[in-house]
Amino acid sequence: MLLSVPDLLNPDQVAKARQILDGAEWVDGRVTAGPQSAQAKDNQQIPEGHPAGREGGALILDVLGRNPLFLAAALPLRVFPPLFNRYSGGQSFGTHVDNAIRQVPGTPHRVRTDISATLFLSGPEEYDGGELMVEDTYGAHGVKLRPGSLVLYPATSLHHVTPVTRGTRLCSFFWIQSMVRDDGQRSLLFDLDVGIQRLTRELPGHATLVPFTGVYHNLLRQWAEM
Ligand code: NI
Repeated sequence: MLLSVPDLLNPDQVAKARQILDGAEWVDGRVTAGPQSAQAKDNQQIPEGHPAGREGGALILDVLGRNPLFLAAALPLRVFPPLFNRYSGGQSFGTHVDNAIRQVPGTPHRVRTDISATLFLSGPEEYDGGELMVEDTYGAHGVKLRPGSLVLYPATSLHHVTPVTRGTRLCSFFWIQSMVRDDGQRSLLFDLDVGIQRLTRELPGHATLVPFTGVYHNLLRQWAEM
């Protein structure tokens, strides 16, 4: 499932994040890439554990943990601390798949990357190119969102970022270990959840809501790992 979470950050929070990142040190993005993706990767990143990255990441995690759409779609168990990258001057990231397991720096914790997330921090009018292209069985989908908006996609997907030929593309990226590892199962739960929410709004108190909600929780109970 490829899903946008519009306006995860409001304009004030985007401005705050960009202000924090302005003071950061940027290094070659290959520092967090595996050997295969290092060959495809050409961008800049804030080093893991850098104070500016940590502060920006905390701002994102705080908002993320309170966003109903994100919580319903991702069913998060662990979220990798957000990282930041930027592309300019023709930089791009060729087709790759993200590493399956990531060690959280400075901790004994590891995150299995079930879901990849990209949070756009610069506006589409600020740069040309820089589309995130995600491949699935229905072809490649281009994603370029307004600042503050997030896209979630299965970390199993091949994906790439097209060259940024004008301006600078600034994003945060991170991964989520979901309580429900399988994207197909997660999608079914999300569809059911969305349907129940809609029924609750349009036919409040309808008797069907109780068994439907029961089915949701009983499927989640079968599929969740913690
Ligand atoms: Ni990637």
